[in-house]
Amino acid sequence: MKKFGTMLLALVMVLGLAACGGGDKPSGSDLKTVEPGKLHMSTNAEFPPYEMTTDSGGFAGIDVEVAEAIAKKLGLELVVDDMGFDAALTAVQTGQSDIAMAGITVTDDRLEVMDFSDSYATGVQVVIVKSDSPAVQSLDDLASAAMIGTQKATTGYIYCSDTPENGGYGEDHVIAFDTGALAVMALVNGQVDAVVIDNEPAKAYVNENPGLEILDTEFAVEDYAIGFAKGNTALKDAVNAAMKELKDDGTFQGIVDKYITAE
Ligand code: ARG
Repeated sequence: MKKFGTMLLALVMVLGLAACGGGDKPSGSDLKTVEPGKLHMSTNAEFPPYEMTTDSGGFAGIDVEVAEAIAKKLGLELVVDDMGFDAALTAVQTGQSDIAMAGITVTDDRLEVMDFSDSYATGVQVVIVKSDSPAVQSLDDLASAAMIGTQKATTGYIYCSDTPENGGYGEDHVIAFDTGALAVMALVNGQVDAVVIDNEPAKAYVNENPGLEILDTEFAVEDYAIGFAKGNTALKDAVNAAMKELKDDGTFQGIVDKYITAE
């Protein structure tokens, strides 16, 4: 009887190993996700070319396609959950989504409440002004700008609304809009004198709105990464490994090139 027990144990161990070792790719079934078999991505699809809605009601963009490719490698099906930017960050922290991917900048404050993947892109905070803007011609003029428009909860808002001692302009000089597009609309309407936002959406908005331009100077250079709940190391490691494969085999660059044309 004892011998049979040992054999059974050995058999269970062999089966167990076989289940874990199915190829070199992390398999979805090993990962605990919000919904079995699915990878929920919280995002704010108001940030071209990283994430946006399509006319047919779907989602497109670099983050969406990269997340799709990552999910596939993990044996999971991607589900995009679109919400406000601050909500997208909170969703992953509270376990309502598995990953947050929204052109999210890694900051010290965010690192206290969530974990991040390896960085996958560089973002630059830039300043959009009206081409004939008398108030703002350079970064220095921002200090005297009556009003700066930003998207709520973004680093653009966080930096600009900080105190002058910390390099900001003070809360009274910054308006937080629900989306970057609304901030840009406010600039067009003359409600704000400048918009501080990430460079790629800035380019998209300037292309769509004649009479706007991006100042030459960079306001801040940042790293984008995928967000996880604090301590979700299993998923973070699996995503980092999948991302590395996508970078090594050219898939990642192929997606970027689809959306961003080299200057
Ligand atoms: N990179 C900026 C940040 O992390 C802005 C990101 C906004 N993303 C979005 N999908 N709306 O704060």
